[in-house]
Parts: sequence; structure tokens; C-alpha cells
Amino acid sequence: MRMYDLILKKRNGEALTAEEIRYLIDGYVREEIPDYQVAAWLMAVWFKGMDVREMADLTAAIVDSGERADLSGIPGIKLDKHSTGGVGDKTTLVVAPLVAAAGGTVVKMSGRGLGHTGGTIDKLESIPGFRTALSPEEMVSQARAVRLAIVAQTGNLTPADKKLYALRDVTATVDSVPLIAASVMSKKIASGANAVVLDVKAGSGAFMRQAEDALELARAMVGIGQSQGLAVTALITNMDQPLGRAVGNALEVAEALAVLRGEGPADLRELCLLVASHMLVLGRLAPDTGRACETLEGLLAGGKALARFREWVAAQGGDVSIVDDPGRLPRARRRIEVPSPAAGFVQAIDAAAVGRAAMLLGAGRLTKEASIDPAVGVVLRKKIGDPVDAYEALAVMHVNDPVRPGEAAAALKNAYRIGDTRPGPQRMLYHVVGESGQGGGAGPRDLR
Ligand code: URA
Repeated sequence: MRMYDLILKKRNGEALTAEEIRYLIDGYVREEIPDYQVAAWLMAVWFKGMDVREMADLTAAIVDSGERADLSGIPGIKLDKHSTGGVGDKTTLVVAPLVAAAGGTVVKMSGRGLGHTGGTIDKLESIPGFRTALSPEEMVSQARAVRLAIVAQTGNLTPADKKLYALRDVTATVDSVPLIAASVMSKKIASGANAVVLDVKAGSGAFMRQAEDALELARAMVGIGQSQGLAVTALITNMDQPLGRAVGNALEVAEALAVLRGEGPADLRELCLLVASHMLVLGRLAPDTGRACETLEGLLAGGKALARFREWVAAQGGDVSIVDDPGRLPRARRRIEVPSPAAGFVQAIDAAAVGRAAMLLGAGRLTKEASIDPAVGVVLRKKIGDPVDAYEALAVMHVNDPVRPGEAAAALKNAYRIGDTRPGPQRMLYHVVGESGQGGGAGPRDLR
């Protein structure tokens, strides 16, 4: 087999066989095939795409390039969730204890944030003492004890994905549905769960701006999961403005705690119930999402989900006093309001720009090596549809020295579009694809 022929085949729009894909991935990881040939193949995939069988074979070859987490010591169905990345997305912090309180077992490997999107591990590490570097044995025994473990990616999982992603990043081939789908699903399969709910974001803060593109990605990921024995449901959800009001690590933990207490922003609560209800159906803990949603609302109202959060934080070594007193989370020294330039209604908020503003304040990192400040970030006072007076605060920046907030304030002001008419209600859920798509209850609802 010659790499030249595989590039030519894909360039001409033909499908590669499973053996050809494996030859390519194995040869690349062993450094027998050079970057420049894989780059040419990636570009051919970008233009010509892949069919579902090829995507499944690519995913399997990436999984087999490294280790696979062994969760066989944990009884029952192991549930996972994944978001394609958004701004202010702290759903995992609510969903994981909520599903565990309902009798599910949630085991998840998470990443750190990069660019305008935050990462669950960074959010958890803003809780003083919280350990995310658990050994595989610790992860298994904790999941058995409290039904819940979220850890930073460890071991040599999917090395082929790391190499491919780095090459895609410098060859303008990141935004390809088959390549994203194989990349995400290989990591989910290697992490060892049996069932996963994917939250595929669409809108101004997402990879996929249009819901139709997000739907194509969702279908590809569900197809891959089905071919590899993983139960998958994908939700296509609204990321046309940040989720909830808080963007920044400790600020987001405080907001997640509010939802667990039965308070918090309506859009965040809605998405948490949606994701969690589909997880319960995949985990065979509820017959449909309607019944699942009722159970979950009861667990929130009765304080059971908050109690599970407390047990989880204790199990991972975190300071549980933050649960009853979120004021003990890291706090920034200064709060600076960003005033509205005009009166009217908020028409649109560029979520990616809000994420970039939070990053400029130190909440996120531009490069993988950069450090972050857990205390800083942005809290939105106004969301789409809200009325606003001239000079009234649109958002509040939480700032620590020595960062100078001017650039972030300008980014925030530009992120808002103010107009004379009140826009229609925002819709949270656009589509459901996959296993638990049937059943009523947590279906599309209009949110304000
Ligand atoms: N996230 C991933 O894990 N992989 C991609 O290719 C894109 C986003």
C-alpha cells in the first residue's frame, strides 16, 4: 500500500477501505507517513467528505492507536455527556450530580478550556482542593461509591487524534464534519462509557453557526456511535448567546450551585433538564424524557441533586463549604459595569465575543500552556429580549490586577446589538437525533 494512492483515491472522491484507513493512521502514529502526505489527505477529506462506514473505520483506527479506559469494575451502564463547546456552558456541573442522584452512574473525562470556550476541568479546579488528576483505580472506586467521577484526561488515549488535530489546526482542516465527528467520538469511545448524550451547539458561540450544519455533525456522530456499540443521543441546542449569565470559572460554579438549589437562570436549568432527561432514558432509568424530567425536577426541588454535588466534591477532595456559601469560592477584587450605549431591547449577543472578553480578563487561555485566574470573568445583566436603558449595565466584569479591562469592556459592548423592537423568544432545542429521541416532556420550549 502507498500513501500516494490513498491521497489520490480520496482526491478523486472515492471511499477508502478499512484496511487503507488503518494503514494511514497506524503509519502516521509510528511516524512512517510524513505530515505533508497526511495534510494532503486531510484536505482531500475536507473537500470530498467521507461516508458513514469510512467515518466509523477512521474512529475505530483512532481509538486503537492508544489505550482505552477500563470501567469494567463499575456495575451498570456508564453514562457520559459531551458538549461541542460553548460560552458559559456549565451544564456538566449540574447534570452529573443530578443524574447520579437519579440512580445513574456518570463517569467522564473532561478537558481544559481553550480560546473563547471554557473547560469543565478548569471550572472544577476553581473549587479549593478539588482534585481532577485521579488514578484509574481512584476513578473506578469513586464511581462505585458516589456514582460520579469527572477527571482530567489521563493515559495515552487516542494519540492519533492528538497528532491529527495539531495538523488540522495548521492546515485549515478543522471544520470538516467527518474529521470532527471521528475526533470527538474516538475520545468518547476510548473513555469507556456505554452511553453518551452529545450537546451539539449551534449559533454565534459555537463551532457550527447554523443549526443545519450542527445537525449534519450530530447525525455523523450518532452514526459512528451506533456502529461502535455506543448508545448515543445528540441534541442540537442554541448557542446564540452565552448559556446562563456567568462566564468565568468560579462564577460558573456559583451559577451551577444556584440551579442545583432550584434557582438560577431559566435557560441553563432548561438545558440541564434536557440533557439529564436524555441520559436517564439512555441509562434505562426512565421510560421517556417526560417521565425523566419529572423525576429530575423532584430531585432538584428536594435538594437531592445538591446533596450529591456535596458528596462528589468531598470525594474529590474539594472544600464542601462552598456548597452552602459560594462566597468562599475565589473572588475577584474589582467589579466594573459595562454600560449600554443606547436604550432599547437586546437583539443579539455575540457569544464568542463574550467568551473572548472573559479570556482577556484571564478566565480562559489563548494557548494550551497559559495559566488562568479562577476568580475573574463576566456576568451578563442583560440577555436577548431584555429591555435596557441608555447607560444601564449590560454586563459586569469581575477583574483582578494586573489585567487592564479596557479591551474586554470594548469587546463586551460590541458583543451586544441593541434595537427598538423586542425580538421573539429564544428556542433552546432545535433537534434530537438518536436513541432517546422519542417521548414528550423535555421537548422544545420557548425561553425568555
Ligand atoms: N473538538 C474535538 O474534540 N475535535 C474536533 O475535531 C473539534 C472539536
